[in-house]
Amino acid sequence: MGKRSTLGSLLFFLGLSGICTAFEQENCTNYRLQFERVYSVPGEVAMLNSTLASYDVFNISAVPYNITWYDSKTRQEISNETGRTVVRGETLWFLNTRLDNDGEYVSVLRTPSGCYRQNTRLIVELPVPGKCGRPRKAGQTINKGVTEYLSCPLKEYISKLNSYNSTYSLMWYKVQQLLLGAGPAQMCQAGICFSQLEETSAL
Ligand SMILES: *[C@@H]1O[C@H](CO)[C@@H](O)[C@H](O)[C@H]1NC(C)=O
Ligand SMILES: *[C@@H]1O[C@H](CO)[C@@H](O)[C@H](O)[C@H]1NC(C)=O
Ligand SMILES: *[C@@H]1O[C@H](CO)[C@@H](O)[C@H](O)[C@H]1NC(C)=O
Ligand SMILES: *[C@@H]1O[C@H](CO)[C@@H](O)[C@H](O)[C@H]1NC(C)=O
Ligand SMILES: *[C@@H]1O[C@H](CO)[C@@H](O)[C@H](O)[C@H]1NC(C)=O
Ligand SMILES: *[C@@H]1O[C@H](CO)[C@@H](O)[C@H](O)[C@H]1NC(C)=O
Repeated sequence: MGKRSTLGSLLFFLGLSGICTAFEQENCTNYRLQFERVYSVPGEVAMLNSTLASYDVFNISAVPYNITWYDSKTRQEISNETGRTVVRGETLWFLNTRLDNDGEYVSVLRTPSGCYRQNTRLIVELPVPGKCGRPRKAGQTINKGVTEYLSCPLKEYISKLNSYNSTYSLMWYKVQQLLLGAGPAQMCQAGICFSQLEETSAL
C-alpha cells in the first residue's frame, strides 16, 4: 500500500461521504423494497404510497412523525413542483410521468426518537407499439349469464383521492384492436380503465 493509494482511498471515501444525505447517515430501520411495484406510462399520473405509517411499524397515533421522499439515484429530497410532483402525507404523486422517472424512491419516516426507511419501485413503460390498452393488464374473470361487475384496478388512487375530498371523474373504455390505419392513434392509447386526474387541482 503506497501513499498514492492511501490518498486515493481517502479521496474516494470523502467523495462518497460527500454525496451521502441525512437519511443515509441516520440509523434508520430499513424496511427495504416495498413488494408492490407502481406501474405507469409516460404522461400519466403515478402514486407512490409509503406503508411505513402503520401500526406494524410503530404506534402511529401516539407518536408524531414526518415523511420525506428521496430519489434513490440522486439522493435528493423530492418536494412539490408545479405540474410534476406533489408530496402529501405518506404519498408521492408524479403528475406527468416521464420515462426517466423510472426508478426507486426512498421514503423516510422520522419520529422524535427514530427513523424508518423504505424503497418503492416505480416502473415507467412505453405502450406496446401496435397494441391497444396498457402494457400491464389487471385480469378479472366474469361469469356468463349472471350479473357481474369489473372493478377498477385504480382503487388505491380512488381511495386516496377520496381521503383528500378531491373531485375526480372516472371513465371506462373498451379497448378495441383497431386495424392498422383504421382509426386515430389516440384511440389505441385509451387504457381499459383510465381515470382522469386533473393536475394539482385534484390534490
Ligand atoms: C449509528 O449506529 C452506529 C453503530 O451502532 C453508531 O456507531 C453511530 O453512532 C450511529 N449513528 C447515529 C447518527 O446514531
Ligand atoms: C398507504 O399506506 C398506508 C400505511 O402507511 C396504508 O394504511 C394505506 O392503506 C395505503 N394506501 C393505499 C391507497 O395504498
Ligand atoms: C397507541 O398509543 C395510544 C396512546 O398512548 C394508546 O391508547 C394505544 O393503546 C396504543 N396502541 C397500541 C396498538 O399500542
Ligand atoms: C417534522 O418536520 C419539521 C420540519 O422539518 C420539524 O420541525 C419537526 O421536528 C419534524 N417532526 C418530527 C416528528 O420529526
Ligand atoms: C405540497 O402540496 C400538497 C398538496 O397541495 C400539500 O398538502 C403539502 O403541504 C405541500 N408540501 C409542502 C412542503 O409545501
Ligand atoms: C373531508 O371532508 C370531511 C367531511 O366533510 C371532513 O371531516 C374531513 O376533514 C375532510 N378531509 C380533508 C382532507 O379535507
